[in-house]
Amino acid sequence: MTTFWSTYISVLTLGSLIGLTWLLLSTRKGQSSDTTDQTMGHSFDGIEEYDNPLPKWWFWLFVGTLVFAVGYLILYPGLGNWKGILPGYSYLDPDNKTEFASGDKGWTGVHEWEKEMAQANARFGPLYAKYAAMPVEAVAQDRKALEMGARLFASNCSVCHGSDAKGAYGFPNLTDQSWRWGGEPASIKQSIMDGRHGVMPGWAEVIGEQGVADVSAYVITGLNKRPLPDTVSADASKGQAIFAANCVACHGPEGKGTPLLGAPDLTVAQAFIYGSSFAQLQQTIRYGRQGQMPAQRDIQGNDKVHLLAAYVYSLSQPEPAEAGKSH
Ligand code: HEC
Ligand code: HEC
Repeated sequence: MTTFWSTYISVLTLGSLIGLTWLLLSTRKGQSSDTTDQTMGHSFDGIEEYDNPLPKWWFWLFVGTLVFAVGYLILYPGLGNWKGILPGYSYLDPDNKTEFASGDKGWTGVHEWEKEMAQANARFGPLYAKYAAMPVEAVAQDRKALEMGARLFASNCSVCHGSDAKGAYGFPNLTDQSWRWGGEPASIKQSIMDGRHGVMPGWAEVIGEQGVADVSAYVITGLNKRPLPDTVSADASKGQAIFAANCVACHGPEGKGTPLLGAPDLTVAQAFIYGSSFAQLQQTIRYGRQGQMPAQRDIQGNDKVHLLAAYVYSLSQPEPAEAGKSH
């Protein structure tokens, strides 16, 4: 902030405080301190005003807010460039006594947050490290670890996967047995740590619009064993040939998927994240899809990802799955 604006703000703020104090004291001057039956002398529609002093509680409350304002402005930044006399949190960077990298001094909301984060890491860090040294399966049996994992999940993953981890359109369900990239602890951890990018190419150019309809029909009848709606005119047996020629490379000869590529099992219609209706399948196959799971390595770090992996793993395990849920 330039000196001009800093001075402007300070003068305005301090001027108001001084003005208010003056107003408060000047109206009090010369007044009796007791209730009177003298009136102010004016009358509005027959209503008159007593010349009574301000109630004491009101007066002192006002004085209190003025004292608070002055105290606050001394301690915290508020007056232009004044940083407040509360210290910055230099221990965050013990080798470098210049407080923060930015060279900022004094209290700010950001410093306060950084301080809390540093304290939380100091407190929970050793616990995270302890769990990180255990195999994911073992962590998934530990009630306390699962509670921590559930909290991390709620704040970092539920936006996409849902608070119950059951997924949504475009985001996979993490509680079932269908995995796009594999459900073993190591695969789950890798999905979270390094993220995933599923690439399903679009086929409109290659197989044509009728081809898209035929292969969609084959996915429904041949792979899902579901009936085709009557209104649909498509040839599932032609679709089967298209599938054999174009799709098995990724989705496998029986359509059961290839975890290495993130190509999903197409035999389980409930696990389709882009919808399983004839129209939705055509949309997917015509234009392709590109699902992205954001990597957490740099955001959460290994130890938290380990807890998250254990939590996610526990969700699809029949036995101890309940332990992480709060009820
Ligand atoms: C290069 C590998 C590859 C080929 C070839 C391929 N797919 Fe895919 N397919 C994928 C991947 C990877 C995904 C997951 C995309 C995502 O997660 O966003 C996918 C997703 C799908 C889905 C959506 C599933 C869901 O969860 O909603 C359908 C349906 C599908 N493919 C059908 C086909 C059909 C039919 C063909 C052949 C015409 C085909 N795929 C060819 C890799 C492939
Ligand atoms: C921005 C949305 C988003 C967020 C946030 C997100 N994910 Fe994902 N996640 C996805 C998408 C999309 C996929 C599917 C990727 C694909 O198409 O292959 C996915 C896939 C996964 C998979 C692999 C599922 C499988 O079937 O193999 C796991 C495990 C996973 N996420 C866990 C997590 C965890 C744990 C977090 C929190 C740290 C998280 N995700 C946060 C979008 C998200």
